Amino acid sequence: MSLLRSSTSFLKLSARRQLAATTVGIVRCYSTPSVASSGLKERLAELIPQKQEEVKRIKKEHGSKVLGNVTVDMIYGCMRGIKGLIWEGSVLDPEEGIRFRGMTIPECQQKLPTAPGGQEPLPEGLFWLLVTGEIPTQEQVNKLSAEWAARADIPKFVEDLLDRCPKHVHPMTQFSMAVTALQSESAFAKAYHQGIHKSKYWEYTYEDSMDLIAKLPNIAGRIYQNVFKDGKLPALNPNTDYGHNMASVLGFKDNKQFVELMRLYLTIHTDHEGGNVSAHTTHLVGSALSDPYLSFASGLNGLAGPLHGLANQEVLRWIMEMRDELGSADVSDETIKEYVWKTLKSGRVVPGYGHAVLRKTDPRYACQREFALKHLPTDPMFKLVSQLYKIVPDVLTEHGKTKNPWPNVDAHSGVLLQHYGLVEQDFYTVLFGVSRGLGVLSQLIWDRALGMSIERPKSLSTENIKDLFDTKEEPKSASAAL
Ligand SMILES: CC(C)(COP(=O)(O)OP(=O)(O)OC[C@H]1O[C@@H](n2cnc3c(N)ncnc32)[C@H](O)[C@@H]1OP(=O)(O)O)[C@@H](O)C(=O)NCCC(=O)NCCS
Repeated sequence: MSLLRSSTSFLKLSARRQLAATTVGIVRCYSTPSVASSGLKERLAELIPQKQEEVKRIKKEHGSKVLGNVTVDMIYGCMRGIKGLIWEGSVLDPEEGIRFRGMTIPECQQKLPTAPGGQEPLPEGLFWLLVTGEIPTQEQVNKLSAEWAARADIPKFVEDLLDRCPKHVHPMTQFSMAVTALQSESAFAKAYHQGIHKSKYWEYTYEDSMDLIAKLPNIAGRIYQNVFKDGKLPALNPNTDYGHNMASVLGFKDNKQFVELMRLYLTIHTDHEGGNVSAHTTHLVGSALSDPYLSFASGLNGLAGPLHGLANQEVLRWIMEMRDELGSADVSDETIKEYVWKTLKSGRVVPGYGHAVLRKTDPRYACQREFALKHLPTDPMFKLVSQLYKIVPDVLTEHGKTKNPWPNVDAHSGVLLQHYGLVEQDFYTVLFGVSRGLGVLSQLIWDRALGMSIERPKSLSTENIKDLFDTKEEPKSASAAL
């Protein structure tokens, strides 16, 4: 595929992107000055034909092989354990946790580029890894930082929309609204309307995804400043990285540890394979060829649920309620145990514990704990979180319901943020959402590159199940009977 040719046709379609089309490696973005391409799109253009061939071969050679059985329990269990999706960026092992393109979190911390003087991986590096399967060089992530910073402006009407939002509208609702409103800028939607060839879908999906990711800090920062501060949004620095800019718009740019925390946070929350609510929803909506803005906004609405991303705000709220009730002085293990039991007996979940796939402590929890041990070992809330880690798994095991009594990512993130002064819990899921954008949009690009079709699993009614199995002689399989 000729990248230059395809870029040219893309840009002809978009009146607002005026590219000097003969200049290789230069991308001019919506309402932004020209910026040197990071080279990511060019690398992707090389990789896509290889992957398309590979998938074609796999389908030909293994297309009819069986990956597993589907039981009635699995259907009533809301598809638990059914292998039904392709997700290139990451795979989740129940015991070991997440691997991004085969790499564990500690490996990513070791191998991905960092900022000058920093130790934590840059989210730019993880995005590059998710998209290409390759570890980028320092120069490539620096260029990606610059490319995102140059695409970061949001249109005036989206700023106005957020500025006019009443403060009581939850930050996640505002986030979803802003991303949905940005859909008006979609290169994919415009190009589709004009009738582009399906082999070009990935390029417009890529452009929209890059624009959208780039704009997320400005959206998140504006929501934060409007709802919790004086409404003044610090400007992004075009010469720094994504995590640093995220910290800037929240007002923490001079706090080096907080900036490092942002880099780590935005790296580890990106992707958790394809079946979780935000990832699956983005993929599902995208399968209807809804553009990346509409698709990701749907994912954000799923992330805003308390059993998913909103759990990070719930955790801190629950811990603070516990502290208010039990007092902030050292509380005995026995008293905390009783408090956990009280939560369970009142029919509530213990937020931050349990997982639909994981059966061990989430490595995303473990790496945040490492960060806390290094930077805030004496923080009283961290001590409480550590105490809960000792107590809750035993209580949940004794309770006997949850399949995984261990902590997940959300059990730890809030305590780190509050340590540095980001105490507004209702905002926490927005940060999760910024990071999740990098994961789900990298897959959306591959969805279109691999020509994934509209998602349409088969559903059954309880009447169908009864008809199938409430008979004396059971049919061998549902498919035989339906
Ligand atoms: C993550 C979560 C939604 C996974 O749900 P799941 O796959 O259905 O989990 P399980 O199969 O272990 O659930 C079996 C039972 O244990 C309960 N359970 C699971 N985690 C629990 C927890 N942390 N506290 C209390 N009960 C829990 C479930 O509600 C379910 O009860 P039910 O049979 O009455 O419906 C669930 O563990 C949970 O609600 N955790 C708390 C919220 C949270 O931290 N979410 C963030 C996830 S990253």
